[in-house]
Amino acid sequence: MQADSQNIKNKSKLDKYEYILSNMIHFFSNKDTYIASLANFTALLKDIFDSFSWVGFYLVEGNLLTLGPFQGKVACTEIAIGRGVCGKAAESKETIIVQNVHLFQDHIACDSGSNSEIVVPILHNGDLICVLDIDSYIYSNFDEIDKTYLEKITIKLVELIDNENGK
Ligand code: SME
Repeated sequence: MQADSQNIKNKSKLDKYEYILSNMIHFFSNKDTYIASLANFTALLKDIFDSFSWVGFYLVEGNLLTLGPFQGKVACTEIAIGRGVCGKAAESKETIIVQNVHLFQDHIACDSGSNSEIVVPILHNGDLICVLDIDSYIYSNFDEIDKTYLEKITIKLVELIDNENGK
């Protein structure tokens, strides 16, 4: 894995996502373990986007989401499906954007500095396997560009790291 992100850090959000999307094949492969790939994915996003305060995965374990690879401050380790932004995105299998987390009923605050959030559900063969959660200290940091690209990028990630073990 090689990611020289220095040149891309000053580009627009769109350029950053295009760079990640077009280089996914160089960053990820099914030779790496699932956890190693998710870990590097969080590092890649956190490195390129200074506005992301926390980037991580919650993995599906029965009716729970359990903390997976992440970059950022210590976070809660278990979220029931249906609870918080993560649990609601997992339940609906739809991306949720929260412009102001303080106005989102049932938001779970792991870092009191966080002000906005996006959660993208990730499916494998139609089954939910994890969610990608990204927080920002900036209000309204996430929009349709983030949703569109994070969905595309995570679909690509699953394709690239998919192997005979299923995930
Ligand atoms: N805010 C999330 C909890 C996870 S942390 O943001 C890392 C939620 O409401 O589900």
